[in-house]
Amino acid sequence: MNISLTLILCAVLVSVAVADEFHKGGVGTCSVCHVIHTLADGNPVVPTADNNYLLRENTPSDLCLSCHATSNGAVWSNNPLVPAPQRGAGNFIFEQAANLNDAPDGAQHPLSGGHGVHNCVAPSQNSDVDPVHDVAPGGSYPSKYLGCTSCHDPHGNTNFRMLWGVGHIPAGDFTFMYSAPYADGTPLDSAAESRTLHTAYHSGWTNWCRNCHGLYHADGSQGFEHPVDGPLTGHTRVSYELYDGSGNPTGGIPQQSYLPEVPFESRTVTINSTNGPEMQSRIACITCHRAHGSSAVDLGRWDFRVANLRLDGSPSGSYPIPNPYTSGTIERSLCVKCHEQDTRTHGFTQACIECHREETLVREKLDPARPVRSIK
Ligand code: HEC
Ligand code: HEC
Ligand code: HEC
Ligand code: HEC
Ligand code: HEC
Ligand code: HEC
Ligand code: HEC
Repeated sequence: MNISLTLILCAVLVSVAVADEFHKGGVGTCSVCHVIHTLADGNPVVPTADNNYLLRENTPSDLCLSCHATSNGAVWSNNPLVPAPQRGAGNFIFEQAANLNDAPDGAQHPLSGGHGVHNCVAPSQNSDVDPVHDVAPGGSYPSKYLGCTSCHDPHGNTNFRMLWGVGHIPAGDFTFMYSAPYADGTPLDSAAESRTLHTAYHSGWTNWCRNCHGLYHADGSQGFEHPVDGPLTGHTRVSYELYDGSGNPTGGIPQQSYLPEVPFESRTVTINSTNGPEMQSRIACITCHRAHGSSAVDLGRWDFRVANLRLDGSPSGSYPIPNPYTSGTIERSLCVKCHEQDTRTHGFTQACIECHREETLVREKLDPARPVRSIK
C-alpha cells in the first residue's frame, strides 16, 4: 500500500476543475478519478482492489478514456476509418475494424481488429479481452487485466508518458523487472506525427517491452527471427540513410533520411531531427511496432503482410496506413529501409514474412492461415 498516497488522500478532499496540467509529473486531484467516501470517524475510505479502487468509472481504462478517447492526445476516436491524429503510440479504434488482413487473400481470411492493438478492457468503448492470447506472447502478463494502467501509472510520475518502471503494478498484480524507457514526446496538442515532429526514442525500449514479452523474435522460436536490440550494423545504417523510397532507393540525403515509421534509438535524436542513424543507434521493438496499435496485424508501424504499400487497406477494407514515400510506382515494404542491399534481387512481389518466418508456428498463431513458403 502506498502510504504517501493515503496521506494525500486524507488531505485532498476538495474537487478542483481539470487544468491543462492535469497529471504532468505528479498525482492529479484525487476526486477527479476516485469517489471519496468518509467513514464515521471522519477518515476517508482507502481505494483498494476490493472496492474497485473507488473509481468514478467501471474500469481504470474507462476512467482514462473519459478524458483521452477523443481529446487530450486522443487515443481512441469513434471510427476505425477515421483515426485520431498519430502521435506515436497509435490508435485503439482499429480494434473495432472487421478485418485488418491485407495479405493478397486477406478478404477471404479476415483477422479482426483485436489483432492490431493491445486490447484494453474498456466496456465504454465495447472493447474486451484479446480473443486469441490469454497472456502476453513470450511472457506471462494476463490479457484480462490489460488496460491503460498496465503501462501508465495513473498517479503520474516523471517517466516518459508516465510509463511504469521497475516494481509492482496494481493492474494484473504484476512486477516489472526493467526500467521505464527514455524518450522525448511531442506535446499532446501539437500537429500529427511527421518527419519533423515525432517521438525521439533514446534508450531502454526493448527492455521495457521485455517486461511483458521477453526478447520476442530473438531466438527464432516465435516464427519471425530478427535482432530486437543492439546497434545497427554498417550496411543497415547506409541503407537507412540512402533509401528514399522505391523510386529513389540509393539517392537519398542522409541528413533528411529519418522516417518516423521506422524509428531507431539514439541519444542525439530530437523530436524535430531528420538525420539518419549514427554509429551508436540501435534497433528496438518500437522500430517495427506501435505501442497502442495500428490498422496492421501485430501493431505494425507498416503492414508486414503487404508487398506494395500502395495496396495497404485494399484487401481488408481497413484504414490504409499513410505511405511515407511517393516516388515509386510500387512502394516496397519498409523492411527495405534497412535492407535495400539485401533485397535488390528478391522480395518484390511477396511480403517479406511470407518467407522469413517459420511456417507451422504461423499457422497456429494466425488462424485462418494461408500457405507460406519457409526458409528459416
Ligand atoms: C487519473 C486518475 C487518478 C487520480 C487523479 C488518482 N488516482 Fe488513485 N487510482 C487510479 C486508478 C485507475 C487506480 C487503480 C489501480 C491501477 O489501475 O493502477 C488507483 C488506485 C489507487 C490506490 C490503490 C492502489 C495504489 O496504487 O496504491 C490508492 C491508495 C489511490 N489510488 C489513491 C489516490 C490518491 C490519494 C489520489 C490523489 C492524491 C489519487 N489516487 C489520484 C486513478 C487515479
Ligand atoms: C480528468 C481528465 C483526465 C483523466 C481522467 C486522465 N487524464 Fe491523462 N491527461 C489529461 C490532461 C489534461 C493531460 C495533458 C496535461 C498533463 O500532462 O497533465 C493528460 C496527459 C496524459 C498523458 C501524457 C503525459 C505526458 O507526459 O505527456 C498520459 C500518458 C496520460 N494522460 C494518461 C492517462 C491515463 C493512463 C489515465 C487513466 C489512469 C488518465 N490519463 C486519466 C487529462 C486526464
Ligand atoms: C503490461 C504488459 C505489456 C507490455 C508492457 C507490452 N505488452 Fe504487448 N501484449 C501484452 C498482452 C497481454 C498481449 C496479448 C493481448 C493482446 O494482444 O491484446 C500483448 C500483445 C502484443 C502483440 C500482439 C498483438 C496481437 O493481437 O496479435 C504485439 C505485437 C505486442 N504486444 C507488442 C508489444 C510491444 C512492441 C511492446 C513495447 C512497446 C509491448 N507489447 C509492451 C502485454 C504487454
Ligand atoms: C502496452 C502498453 C500501453 C498501453 C496498454 C497503453 N499505453 Fe498509452 N502509451 C504507451 C507508450 C509506450 C506510449 C509512448 C509511445 C510513443 O511515443 O511511441 C504511450 C503514449 C500515450 C499517450 C501520448 C500520446 C500518443 O498517442 O503517443 C497517451 C495520451 C496515452 N498513451 C494514453 C493511453 C490510454 C488512455 C490508454 C488506455 C486506453 C493507454 N495509453 C494504454 C504504452 C501503453
Ligand atoms: C524488424 C522488425 C521487428 C522488430 C524489431 C520486432 N518485431 Fe515483433 N513482429 C514483427 C513482425 C514482422 C511480426 C509478424 C510475424 C509473423 O507474422 O509471423 C511481429 C510479430 C510480433 C508479435 C505477434 C505475436 C502473435 O502471436 O501474434 C509480438 C508479440 C511481437 N512481435 C513482439 C515484439 C517485441 C516484444 C519486440 C521487441 C523485443 C519486437 N516484436 C520486435 C517485426 C518486428
Ligand atoms: C532499423 C533497421 C531494420 C529494419 C527496419 C529491419 N531490419 Fe532486418 N536486420 C537489421 C539488422 C541490424 C540485422 C542484423 C544483421 C544484419 O543483417 O546486418 C537484421 C537482420 C535481418 C535478417 C537476417 C539476416 C541474417 O544475417 O540472418 C533478415 C532475414 C531480416 N533482417 C529481415 C527483415 C525483415 C523481414 C524486416 C521487416 C519486417 C526487417 N528485417 C526490418 C535491421 C533492420
Ligand atoms: C520468396 C521468398 C522470399 C521473400 C518474399 C523475401 N525473401 Fe529475403 N531471402 C529469401 C531467401 C531464400 C534468402 C537467402 C537465405 C539464406 O541464404 O539464408 C533471403 C535473404 C535475405 C536477407 C539476407 C539474409 C542473409 O542471411 O544474408 C535479408 C536481409 C532478406 N532476405 C530480407 C528480405 C526482405 C526485407 C524482404 C521483403 C522486402 C524479403 N527478404 C523477401 C527469401 C525471401
